[in-house]
Amino acid sequence: MEEARGWLRNAANVAALTGSGISAESGIPTFRGSGGLWRSYRAEDLATPEAFARHPLLVWQWYDWRRTLIAAAQPNPGHLALVELETRVPSFTLITQNVDGLHARAGNSRIVCLHGDIWTLRCTACGKEEQNLQAPLPSLPPKCACGAIQRPGVVWFGEPLPPHAWLAAEKASSQCDLFLVIGTSAVVMPAGGLVYLARQSGARVIEINSEETHLSSLVDCSLRGPAGTILPELLRP
Ligand code: OAD
Repeated sequence: MEEARGWLRNAANVAALTGSGISAESGIPTFRGSGGLWRSYRAEDLATPEAFARHPLLVWQWYDWRRTLIAAAQPNPGHLALVELETRVPSFTLITQNVDGLHARAGNSRIVCLHGDIWTLRCTACGKEEQNLQAPLPSLPPKCACGAIQRPGVVWFGEPLPPHAWLAAEKASSQCDLFLVIGTSAVVMPAGGLVYLARQSGARVIEINSEETHLSSLVDCSLRGPAGTILPELLRP
């Protein structure tokens, strides 16, 4: 921890990649592991265009459940530590795989959202997008003014990432001198690949995770524990 603090103090250009683990302490379940199941479905079976085509109502019930949990949740000390970090480091980019909007609610201003936003609804016919904060939604599946059903504005397995977000993430990861990987299993690509990009580009990498992951032995330092405890400790002067 002491050594990692020193790296952070001396870093001019920091990038962080977050995953669902940073929101776990706000009461939002992660995707994998014991808390990752909804009814008896795995996220991988619900977050796909094929699942939505087959069972739009089932997929929407899952998203509506997540939206309702998120609406009642608050940013936790892990989120708040990243707001503080943004004010301290000359250049800081927050890259997130999360769709919950909690980083923005906590107060970070520069956020690269790789997997979209659960509060955006997109029409499956005309493509029109709208922000909708109602949770639960009054009827499922929600409909566009044109009459077609809407889908969540998130990236599903097998779909490309928004190009501008991916470019910004690649740029930040390849130009930083310190890369933090926080609360993610980093198994979903291409997001997980940013860790390797940062490393190959010469950055030090610090992992913050409550459990050991496939990255733990590859990074410069793996801090084990809840992000809401470890991040504030890491930022202590
Ligand atoms: P995962 O569920 O794969 O991983 C969550 C990680 O958080 C695990 O490594 C946990 O050990 C860790 N964790 C849990 N609680 C923690 C805490 N309090 N503090 C720190 N770490 C904690 O979730 P993601 O890596 O976010 O994509 O999953 C990536 C993507 O897969 C998601 O964005 C989503 C999902 O399917 C799509 O839907 C495309």
